[in-house]
Formats: sequence, C-alpha cells, structure tokens
Amino acid sequence: MNKRISREKVFLIATGTAVLGLAAAVMGQAQNSLTGSGGGKNPGGTGMTGPAVGVRDPGVRAVSIGAGGPIAGLTPAELQFFQNGLARFIEIDSVGGNISGEPGKGLGPGYNSNSCSSCHASPSIGGTSPSAAQYPNIGPNPQILAATDAGATNSIPYFITADGPVRESRFPFMVNPNSTVSTTPDGGVHDIYTIAGRQDAPNCSMAQPNYEQAQALSNIIFRIPTPVFGAGLIENIPDSTIIANMQTNATLKKSLGIGGHPNYSGNDGTITKFGWKAQNKSLEIFAGEAYNVEMGVTNELFTNERGLAPSSCLLNQTPEDLTNFSEAGANIPSDVVAFAAFMRFLAPPVPSAKGIPNNPSAVSVADGLVQFVKVHCDMCHTEILETAVTPTASAALANKPAVLFSDLLVHHMGSGLADNVSQGAAGPDEFRTAPLWGVGQRIFFLHDGRATPANGGLLAAIEAHASQGSEASEVIALFNALSAQQQQDLLNFLRSL
Ligand code: HEC
Ligand code: HEC
Repeated sequence: MNKRISREKVFLIATGTAVLGLAAAVMGQAQNSLTGSGGGKNPGGTGMTGPAVGVRDPGVRAVSIGAGGPIAGLTPAELQFFQNGLARFIEIDSVGGNISGEPGKGLGPGYNSNSCSSCHASPSIGGTSPSAAQYPNIGPNPQILAATDAGATNSIPYFITADGPVRESRFPFMVNPNSTVSTTPDGGVHDIYTIAGRQDAPNCSMAQPNYEQAQALSNIIFRIPTPVFGAGLIENIPDSTIIANMQTNATLKKSLGIGGHPNYSGNDGTITKFGWKAQNKSLEIFAGEAYNVEMGVTNELFTNERGLAPSSCLLNQTPEDLTNFSEAGANIPSDVVAFAAFMRFLAPPVPSAKGIPNNPSAVSVADGLVQFVKVHCDMCHTEILETAVTPTASAALANKPAVLFSDLLVHHMGSGLADNVSQGAAGPDEFRTAPLWGVGQRIFFLHDGRATPANGGLLAAIEAHASQGSEASEVIALFNALSAQQQQDLLNFLRSL
C-alpha cells in the first residue's frame, strides 16, 4: 500500500474513456461489418450445422458505461473501504516501491502484469481486457507495456498481441528431461515475465518460460480475466440456493444432456464459485492468489515467492503485503483485504437497450430473452439467484436478486473447449457457466479469449459451446434451428446485458 496514490488516476481513466468513446463507437461499427459467423452454414436444410446467414454480433454497446460504481446501500464506512480498495486496485507495483508512478511494492520475480486494474480494466475498473480498437477502454493490451516496464528485458510471447486479450498461460502437463510431454499434470500458471533488467532489480537474472517449446508441444492453454462486477452478490449466494437450482427442471435438463455440479473446496467441503472453473472460495482468497500469481506480490494469504526464483531476484522480505498496524481506519488492512472489500462492494453491471450498434428495436431485444429461454440457454445460464437473507458481509448484499445468468456450476463443455487442466472437482473439459451480466460491454469471450470481434464475437462464443462431449450441444442445435431474426434478437438481447 502507499497512501500517496491519488484519485488522479481514476480521473484520467474516466476522462480518457469519455473522449475516446465516440471514436471507438465508429470503429466498432466498421469492425462489425467485417465479422462473419464462425460456422457460417445456412441452416435451411438441417438447421443443425451453424447459425443462419447474415446473423451477427452487433458489437460492444456504447453510449454509457454501465459498470464500475459501488453497490447501492453501503454505509459511509463501507463506502470508504470501497474507495480505499479501489485506489489500491489501480496502484502500479514496482519491485521496491520506489519508482516514480509505481508506488506499490513487491512486483516479481515473475509477473503477468503490474496492477490489478491493468487486466481488470474494461468497460471500467474491475472488468476485463481492454482493446486497441473497441469502446470504451481504447489502448493496447497492458501486457505489451509491462514487458519492458522500468527497463525489464522480456520478450513478448506469440500469444500476447497489442489488440488481443490480456492472457495468462498454463502448461497442462510437465515436460520430460528429453523435451517430450509427460502425463504428469502441471496445470499451474507460468508467469510470462520476469523482473530481470529492471532498474530496481539490477542483478536479477531469470529466464522467461520456454514458450517456443510449449507451443511446439501444444502444451499451453490460456485464461483471460473474468470481470469482478457484482462479485459480492455472487459471494453471498448460499450453497443451498445453488443446490436447489441445480435440482430444478431435472427432466428437461436430462433430456437435453445437461448435467452440472458444483466445484468444492477440498478442506471445508463448501461450494467454490470464483474463476473460470469455479476453483476459488472467496474474493479474499482470489485477491491473495492473484497478488502472488499475477504480480508476484507475496502476502498474508500466499506468503512466499513462487517457483524456484534465483536468489539474485529475491529482493524483498516476505510477505511483501502486510497488515498496516500503525495506520488508521481503512488504511489498516493489507492490500489483499482492501482489494476484497473493493470487489465485494462493486455493483453489478447495469443492463440497457440503448447504444447497441445498429439500434435494434426494444421488441427485438425483448424477443431475444424469449428465444434465450426457448432454446434453454437458461438451463445453465440461470437468470437470477437470490443472495442470502442474512448477509455474511454487508446489509447491502443481503436478500438481493443477483441477475447473473449463471448456475455457478461446472459443466462438461466438450473437446472443443477442453483445456486439460483440472482444478478441484472441475475436470479437463469442465467450466463454470460464465455469468452473462455485463456481456453487452465485453470484447473477448470464453476462458481463453478465443471469441473476438474479428471472428464473430458473441456468435463465435455461442457456436464454440457445441463439440464432442459438450452438455451444451443440444441447446446450440436448437439455437441454430431458430430463424435468422430470432438468432439476431438473441444476440441483440445479449448486448443489452
Ligand atoms: C495479468 C492479468 C491479471 C492481473 C494483474 C490480475 N488479474 Fe485477476 N484475473 C485474471 C485472470 C486471467 C483471471 C481468471 C483466472 C482463472 O479463473 O483461471 C482473473 C480472475 C480474477 C477473479 C475471479 C473473478 C470471478 O468471478 O471469477 C478475481 C476476484 C480477481 N481476478 C482479482 C484480482 C485482483 C484483486 C488482482 C490484483 C491483486 C488481480 N485480479 C490481478 C487476470 C489478472
Ligand atoms: C451446458 C451449459 C451451458 C449451456 C446450455 C449454454 N451455456 Fe453459455 N457457457 C457455458 C459455460 C460453461 C461457459 C464458459 C465456457 C468457456 O469459457 O470455455 C459459457 C460461456 C458463454 C458465453 C461467453 C461468456 C464469457 O464470459 O466469455 C456466452 C456469450 C454464452 N455462454 C451464451 C450462451 C447462450 C446464448 C446459450 C444458449 C444458446 C448458452 N450460452 C448455453 C455453459 C452453457
């Protein structure tokens, strides 16, 4: 933590966004007209092979940004912790905390980026990857700048591009000494960059992972950031609600081939909800892990540096982030606790039918929800789960409808989406039903960001649900059998979320 961090950064991000929004909206239109569908086969005959001709993702909803503020009903003290956590969430970290503009301490030895908000950026702080071309956060992938920040000498691997999504890498399996892939699971995150060459790590010598080898061996998968808007509501959905929702519509789900089960925390047996495989229990645990894994900052939850970093790169006492006993008020908690408070109190995205490119009618957007339910997307993407009546964290989070469009269960998504990584009870092809709130302002989709504006966006994401072994294949066949207008309505509806 560093109290010198200012509101200026928040202000800068806000104004930058407003100025660039207009240009982005125009560019967005241009991009949209280039996109075609992933499958592209006319369903006229069987209706089962791809979306209808001419249907397309309208693109990112513009006009205003419907995310990033505090949830309604916070007490003044809670609001103070939200603001304090926000300031720390955007703070840039350096190794020693004494580089101008980078007051946070503890970066590296390995890292993927240097602030929470660099990756969780769009459509506003707390979200996901920004884009070089799409409304509202226009700018290159922050991982391009992070590679050489403060003199670091990293090379940028093939999967990080200026207008592509922020990504982190995992290697599904260990590599044998003779450079073949073993069957022993690895599955962990391998940090893309090291602090070698930085002015605040003068003697550090540490190599980046061998991405040429990982690519040649096809032993690499990616994950993009999940947005954290509304995360406090998700945290407050009781296990009993998730189980009860899982058990509803049993006959229909069975006939569609839809199963699904919770992921569980191995130690206490309760349901885990956060991350692409619902692998993490709480916002605080995710914050502690992200601080260590994404930025290399050791903390009270994850106390030591990762991997086998050479001693030349171990420059701070650990943990680097601690409770600030001599401070007062909202400054006392560690960064990890402050991050969690910020995310917990972050409001869910606000849906709107305004600003969707091509101006679909209100009738079209409303019919989209009808089609969404008709083809049974909602058998996984449950529209609403209620939070607990008795809150665990704040009265503002109690007894609220979380309109998240997820059952918070993990499902088999087939060979096409499988990443061969197991996390807790989530196996190689299982993923958490991605919450769809906020997709109206999202640019990159699916766990590895494979669905982009250039290849069809939302439509590509939907079509990728269907592959050998996927519980969603039947529902996607029903989607493909809709008329072109109905499919378009469904896409327009998603862009209103
Ligand atoms: C290099 C980019 C990057 C940085 C920096 C980063 N994250 Fe993330 N974040 C991710 C990715 C990728 C995921 C998805 C990981 C997964 O599920 O495999 C994620 C997921 C999350 C989630 C889970 C949300 C949900 O509902 O699934 C939380 C919470 C989170 N990050 C908090 C943080 C915090 C706090 C920080 C700063 C300490 C941070 N992140 C820094 C990339 C980043
Ligand atoms: C069997 C359960 C299931 C069904 C049925 C299903 N989905 Fe999904 N959906 C998922 C899962 C799991 C993911 C995350 C997959 C991944 O990232 O690899 C997902 C991801 C998505 C995403 C991308 C969200 C993001 O954050 O990147 C969209 C959009 C989406 N689904 C829309 C739909 C629509 C529209 C339908 C109906 C036509 C549908 N889904 C049917 C389980 C399902």
